[in-house]
Amino acid sequence: MWIFMINPILLYSIFLFSMLYYQAKGVDNNMNQQAMDAILNRRSIRQYTSQPLSTGEIKQLLTAAMSAPSCMNCRDWSFIVVTDRDMLQRMAAGNGKPADPLKQAAAGILICGDLLRTFSKAPEYWIIDCAIAAENICIAAQAMNIGSVWLGTWPQMERVKNQSALFDLPEHIVPHSIIALGYPDGEPKPRPCIYEENRVHFETW
Ligand SMILES: Cc1cc2nc3c(=O)[nH]c(=O)nc-3n(C[C@H](O)[C@H](O)[C@H](O)COP(=O)(O)O)c2cc1C
Repeated sequence: MWIFMINPILLYSIFLFSMLYYQAKGVDNNMNQQAMDAILNRRSIRQYTSQPLSTGEIKQLLTAAMSAPSCMNCRDWSFIVVTDRDMLQRMAAGNGKPADPLKQAAAGILICGDLLRTFSKAPEYWIIDCAIAAENICIAAQAMNIGSVWLGTWPQMERVKNQSALFDLPEHIVPHSIIALGYPDGEPKPRPCIYEENRVHFETW
């Protein structure tokens, strides 16, 4: 106690540090909430305005994709970013009717597995690694108020073949999924509470 009395500077420093600490904690909580909001509020968006995505926005989405975990950190994916309207139409045709959102999208990202980079003891993990990268793009898009929808490609081999031919892909690059992206035209319906008690088991089945 006596030390505070003789040293007001020390007292002031403690006060300042505790203020900074609690302020930093507050920012942390805020960021956690933002992450949860992006996850909980993400919906598939299939209709877009004509607003293009900037190069910076696309780079941010790809950075999110490349921040995904991958088996043994193999990072066994590659991405093809398409904004050309004609190519988007052809990608859509390659995946059939379910890929119609691409026709209107500002951009499409084809996520591909790179079979030369897989984990040799369990190469099939590339499929999971690509899926996580795809989901990271969708979550990041939500956080940026950009609409997205995942367009399934692998393991529908006809679609895989079509996309491979369209981009003239080497054999070790395998199309996995396409994410259509664009600024949403309209608000998606709010999601009902999605937590299902009966899907969850604690400690044992
Ligand atoms: C593997 C996979 C494939 C999908 N393929 C398509 C597709 O081809 N076309 C489409 O419109 N939506 C596709 N979706 C989006 C789902 O239909 C959508 O996620 C689901 O209906 C739940 O809706 P939500 O995303 O709004 O929560 C796909 C989603 C996943 C995960």
